[in-house]
Formats: sequence, C-alpha cells, structure tokens
Amino acid sequence: MKERKEPIVIAIDGTSASGKSTNARLVAKALGYVYVDTGAMYRTLAWYCLKKGLDVHDPKVVAAACRKWKTRLECVDNSVRLLVNGYYPEKEIRTAETSAATPAVAAVPAVREWMKKTQRACTQFGNLVMEGRDIGTNVFPETEFKFYLDASLEERTRRRAADGVKENLALRDQRDSQRAAAPLMIPLGAVVVNNSGQTPKETSELILAEIRRRLAQRGAAASKPSS
Ligand code: DC
Repeated sequence: MKERKEPIVIAIDGTSASGKSTNARLVAKALGYVYVDTGAMYRTLAWYCLKKGLDVHDPKVVAAACRKWKTRLECVDNSVRLLVNGYYPEKEIRTAETSAATPAVAAVPAVREWMKKTQRACTQFGNLVMEGRDIGTNVFPETEFKFYLDASLEERTRRRAADGVKENLALRDQRDSQRAAAPLMIPLGAVVVNNSGQTPKETSELILAEIRRRLAQRGAAASKPSS
C-alpha cells in the first residue's frame, strides 16, 4: 500500500504589521501552497457577533455564537475562506469597527478551540502557509517549519499608516501577548526574522531559503537506507 503523505504546514506568526500577510502570500505563491489568513477567521466571528447585535465583551455570549454559527471552508485561488451562511464577508471584516471588536473575541478560550479545529481542517486543501499569532505554538505545534516575524514599533506603525490605518500597535501587542488563551509568543524552534529595513522580497526569500533547506534535509533523510 502507498504511504499517505501528511500535508506540509508552514507556520508564520508574529506581531501586528510585521509583514505576516505579505510574506505568507509570497511564500505560498512561490511554493504553490495554499494560503490561510487565520486573523480573517477571528475577524469573521467578530463581524458576525456585531451583525447579530451581540456583546463581544461577554465571553459566554461569544462562545455561544461560535457554537451555533453555520460556517464552511472553501479554497479559492489557493487561498482559504471562511464562509458564514454561505457568505464571505471580505470587506466587512476589515472595517475599524470589526478590527476593534476582534481582540475580545479572540481572547475567548472556546473560540480558540473552535478556530484550532477549523484551522487544522484546512489541510484538506493540501500543503499550507498559515499566518497568525499561535500557529506554531498551538494550532500546528508539530510542524518543523515555524517562523516568527517582527519589526521595530516605529517601522510597524509606519507600515500601518501607509495603509491608511492609525493604530496603537503597542497596545495591540500587549493584548495579543498577555491574553490567557494561546497568547502571542515565539514558538519553540522558530526562525525569528526581524524585517525592519527589509523589503518583502528580501524577507520572503530568506524564509523560502530556510524552507527549501529543511525540505532538502528531509528528502535526504528519507532517501537514506536504514542500517
Ligand atoms: O492578523 P489580524 O490583524 O487580522 O488579526 C486580527 C486579530 O485576531 C488580532 O487581534 C489578533 C487576533 N488573532 C489571534 O488572536 N490569533 C490568530 N491566529 C490570528 C489573529
């Protein structure tokens, strides 16, 4: 019988505006892997709660909504989408109102459990490049491909401003890394990339070189005859 190959998961975690999305997309494209934006999934739940008029600061209410909502995963153009009642709220999840509500939703343990299950189910679409805050620590702790991106606060604030967003990133970092459930931290064994002063091309090439090196090592180990 032919051995079933486990999909490869590249975990890219890091602080806000550290270039996770840009680099994860570039890496996924270069490797022909499927891109997964897990922040978009948390945003989708926040948007859904707001739309239903629910109090996003009440963990019980948010957990109940997460238990009941009707969702489906779909892969379009090598990118995973989370649909709610068959709808993909692409624009709505990027509004300031949704952004402000998302950290509260993301701090609920039952939500994180649901997200972990759903994010792990993304391997049904093949090899993945998944970006988030807890991918290497919590969602796919077993993967050997872990990256942690960061850049100086000044640089990250400049990047957000260039996108037309004014945001207190220091506060956001604090919330992400101090929450009790799956806080943002550097995964054990992750390659840490501080990309202040680097272009996305430089950062993604650095990540790709490391992935290719590890894949080659894997291939070499697999083809070694056992003694
Ligand atoms: O990456 P982003 O800005 O779209 O993330 C939105 C929010 O979701 C942010 O507060 C961090 C949170 N998040 C998380 O807690 N865990 C993830 N894996 C991804 C995002």
